[in-house]
Amino acid sequence: MDVLNKILKLRESLHQHNYNYYVLAAPTITDSEFDSMMHELELLEKENPQYADANSPTQSIGSDLSNEFQKMQHRYPMLSLGNVYSESELIEFDNRIRKTGVDEYVYICELKFDGTSISLTYQNGELKHAITRGDGTQGDVVTENIRTIRSIPKKLIGKEYPADFEIRGEVFMPHASFDRLNSERLKNEETPFANPRNAAAGTIKMLKSSQVAQRGLDCYLYYMLGSQLPTDSHSDNLSLAKNWGFKISPYSRCCKNIGEVIDFIKHWDTERYELPFDIDGIVIKIDSISLQQELGFTAKTPRWATAFKFKAERVATQLLSISYQVGRTGAITPVANLEPVQLAGTTVKRASLHNADQIAILDLHDGDTVFIEKGGEIIPKVISVDIDQRKEGAKAVQYITHCPECGTQLERNPEEAKHFCPNEDHCPPQLKGKIEHFISRAAMNINAGEATVEALFNEKLVNNIADLYSLTREQLLQLDRFAELSANNLIQSIEKSKEQAFDRLVFALGIRQVGTTTAKLLAKTFKNIDALSQASLEQLQQVDEIGETIAKCILGYFAKEENKIIIQQLKDAGLTTEQLMDSQLSERLAGKTIVISGSFSKHSREEYKDMIEKHAGINGSSVSKNTSYLLAGDKIGPSKLEKAQKLGVTIISEDEFLNMMEE
Ligand code: IVH
Repeated sequence: MDVLNKILKLRESLHQHNYNYYVLAAPTITDSEFDSMMHELELLEKENPQYADANSPTQSIGSDLSNEFQKMQHRYPMLSLGNVYSESELIEFDNRIRKTGVDEYVYICELKFDGTSISLTYQNGELKHAITRGDGTQGDVVTENIRTIRSIPKKLIGKEYPADFEIRGEVFMPHASFDRLNSERLKNEETPFANPRNAAAGTIKMLKSSQVAQRGLDCYLYYMLGSQLPTDSHSDNLSLAKNWGFKISPYSRCCKNIGEVIDFIKHWDTERYELPFDIDGIVIKIDSISLQQELGFTAKTPRWATAFKFKAERVATQLLSISYQVGRTGAITPVANLEPVQLAGTTVKRASLHNADQIAILDLHDGDTVFIEKGGEIIPKVISVDIDQRKEGAKAVQYITHCPECGTQLERNPEEAKHFCPNEDHCPPQLKGKIEHFISRAAMNINAGEATVEALFNEKLVNNIADLYSLTREQLLQLDRFAELSANNLIQSIEKSKEQAFDRLVFALGIRQVGTTTAKLLAKTFKNIDALSQASLEQLQQVDEIGETIAKCILGYFAKEENKIIIQQLKDAGLTTEQLMDSQLSERLAGKTIVISGSFSKHSREEYKDMIEKHAGINGSSVSKNTSYLLAGDKIGPSKLEKAQKLGVTIISEDEFLNMMEE
């Protein structure tokens, strides 16, 4: 068999196995057999780059190149659905259909998946592009990201599909992926996503498809469009689409009248908590496509379908007490401890209260009966108080004045909602939090969990971040949780962290308001820890995007005696305390400011920016008289071009720029 045939055969088999696994949940080969076929295909594709194919099963791991989302017009506008919230509104919807004279019809009831909608175009059985809803008329092209979703077919099975059609559905994040993602984010001190819907919508717009691939998204398809659909029944078309490789909801039902629709809704209103993903209602659609066409659309929504939205579940329970948690930065978060109660399928014992203002707005009193609600959010919220149930003489909740962990008087900045404990050098959760932040993945990436930090801290082996570097294997072995292997691993991981780049160290120090982006800017500007620690307020403020508040935090950090000692210890331990030079390729663009605008086909915008810096040029953000060149891509805005022409700025194309770089 020639190489191309071998590649095609492997691709076809792998597409089929992906379908068996991700759509049918019925694999016919073992994981390792799958892996070895995939490996073989990867090798063949690497050796024969002329046969590359974006729809190959090997491409589902995504790429590290930055995506640029171009906009694309929807062939058919992507409309939303009308909502109903009660049985009577649903009956009105049914009556409106009847009034048009239509009387023989069936409904298809489907789950309303709570994610983000996507429109997929297939031509000759191949995924051509995937577009987000956008404004309904045009959306972002996110094909690279969508290709990483294993349950979405890149190539269709069989030959019975229309030559050109669209299919729409909901990209969602199953609970298992969501929980994994959020616990990882918490570990890395990143803000967790509030709910799976936000996580799915955020993920689909991520710049690197390799990261999308890690997030475990899934997709149900629920709407087929095109001029040559196989049948006149919406549900029959979807059943056929399942055979072509699409993941179609197994939960849909055909209902002969509105009574059956109501039964279906009632069933799922309680059963929804057993599903492995979120739904926020039921979609009711007329099944016959010719009837759908007869009924048509209003300006925004179809007349042949509607969504019954479930109410966010709300229950009453009693407030037992309030706990005050102290975070890494000393911020205080009040949490209501409640009489355990069933809500949205789980037992709830705690609910968030946010801050002192929220407690005052609720006018919360000791022992109050409170209403709690779980919208799409994971942590339930206290919504209101049932004043009628308030016991006589109950006292209004008094917000704490001192830190529950170290007793220091709390402070509050006028511009911040939360109180905080200012004792950052001695308050135990703040000290532990600093160490956890220091070792986190985005910082020094030392392989140890929260429980390990807790043990090291409690045993007084590690009181601050610098102490990590004097830990010994013998000390670790004295602790219950360490054996030879785990002790060696931790010591090795600490040793390896010394090589982490300088900007990571700047981030790892845990200076208030200094996130990864600011840390990168500081490292790039000041180049080493001595220059950074001696920088004046003015020098700090001169750095792009650093204002007075951040500058003061940085100054404050380095002014502290304790921190000066820690920095010295880190230097002595041999950490990377200076910025390594970026590899400079040439001085070709020295003194030139270049503004990039539009979309490009040969490299991404990020890559062009990188090239400009590597050739000693400066990336400008807007066209001005100081601009040397405007690098103009496709679809560049006319106002930018006009401005450049008016100011006499040289406009160059992508090819001209690349020629300049090669000369
Ligand atoms: S049909 C013209 N079916 O709900 C009708 N939509 O609120 C197109 N959704 O934008 C939509 N599950 O993102 C349809 N089974 C389902 C759905 C569904 C979730 C979403 C979709 C849509 C939104 C409308």
